[in-house]
Amino acid sequence: MKILFLDQSGKPGGAELCLIDIAKPYREKALVGLFADGSFKTLLQQHSIPVEVLGTQAIKVSKDSSLFQALFSLGQLVPLIKKVIQRAQEYDLIYANTQKALVIGAIASFFARRPLVYHLHDILSKEHFSQTNLNVAITLANRFASLVIANSQASKTAFIQAGGKSGIVKVVYNGFTPQTYQIPETEIQKTRTELGLESKFIIGHFSRLAPWKGQHILISALTNCPPETTVILVGDALFGEQDYIQQLHQQVKELKLENRVKFLGFRSDIPQLMAACNLVAHTSIAPEPFGRVIVEAMLSGRPVVAAKAGGAVELVEQGINGFLVTPANPQELAQVITACIQEPEKTATIAKNAQINASLRFDVTTINQQIAQLLATIKSKLQ
Ligand code: UDP
Ligand code: GLC
Repeated sequence: MKILFLDQSGKPGGAELCLIDIAKPYREKALVGLFADGSFKTLLQQHSIPVEVLGTQAIKVSKDSSLFQALFSLGQLVPLIKKVIQRAQEYDLIYANTQKALVIGAIASFFARRPLVYHLHDILSKEHFSQTNLNVAITLANRFASLVIANSQASKTAFIQAGGKSGIVKVVYNGFTPQTYQIPETEIQKTRTELGLESKFIIGHFSRLAPWKGQHILISALTNCPPETTVILVGDALFGEQDYIQQLHQQVKELKLENRVKFLGFRSDIPQLMAACNLVAHTSIAPEPFGRVIVEAMLSGRPVVAAKAGGAVELVEQGINGFLVTPANPQELAQVITACIQEPEKTATIAKNAQINASLRFDVTTINQQIAQLLATIKSKLQ
């Protein structure tokens, strides 16, 4: 099947990393069309997935844009739309991986008469988006998409609650290659030494720096954790959240935690860094649609504490394969971290359970089969 994948981002967020795994089996006959240049293009090339930057003008619609702003920016997008329609003629199916890709993909689907699939990586609720953005996404998905693939039950439920048609939406979790997360002990020690944290209890936070990802909650919790606990914040502001970075540095300074919090920036050696941690914390203050980092921590055999909302609740069963805490509650987070330190054997058993279970549940081969089966139903309708 020849697929034209569309993604608005030039940078590799979770939705983009997921797309690499989805596009790979189709790469002989597929194209990933991006609406911005950047390191995501390079990553796709490294995986031998054909990629073309179809538009370089930034699409000026943010998560809280008004209808006027949305229409204005649509006018600026005519060259991109034309290009996508042209490319779409050469493919069997359009696969939109982000919301702006849905907008352009829906128009192209109409003019090029190609079916549209929308991979929904977001929780379409007012906590995350403006009413205009919600209306646009739901209307276009309902009208043009043959299939909506939701990254969790939580994303599916929000889609239906916002007015999305329940008959077109199916849940498929992100897939992973478990072997990628098996790191030899010698390498783990080397990473800990390089970080200068050999003797510390390392709490890893792996996420782009954005207010809703809640890095500030973990910093705040650290003041109530034992003195040997140290936080590594892995990730950068991918979508212009520069103020938040300043805010985090300020918070660290005010709490005198300069020696206990390290900002590592964006990294591409996540499995190595996760393996070097003693615990991984997920602290989103708005419901997480899926939460790749939670599964990655499990595959790394590291205990994971996650904020109890959205997709995280589908991934973590309290006390069985991880820990759930009330979102935006640093005291509770500190208590759970402290308990993990005090009960190492119990915590290690939970982490081991999680690793075994996640290796089966999120295996990329199985997940790709699920996607292939869903896409086959669209193909059979075409014939
Ligand atoms: N990640 C990365 N480098 C970093 C920080 C994060 O490659 O410096 C990866 C992380 O391992 C995960 C993804 O980015 O696979 C983030 O996905 P997630 O679903 O957790 O959150 P998103 O940012 O997509 O909302
Ligand atoms: C989005 C979501 C994240 C999810 C990822 C992959 O970026 O914010 O929760 O894990 O997509 O589906």
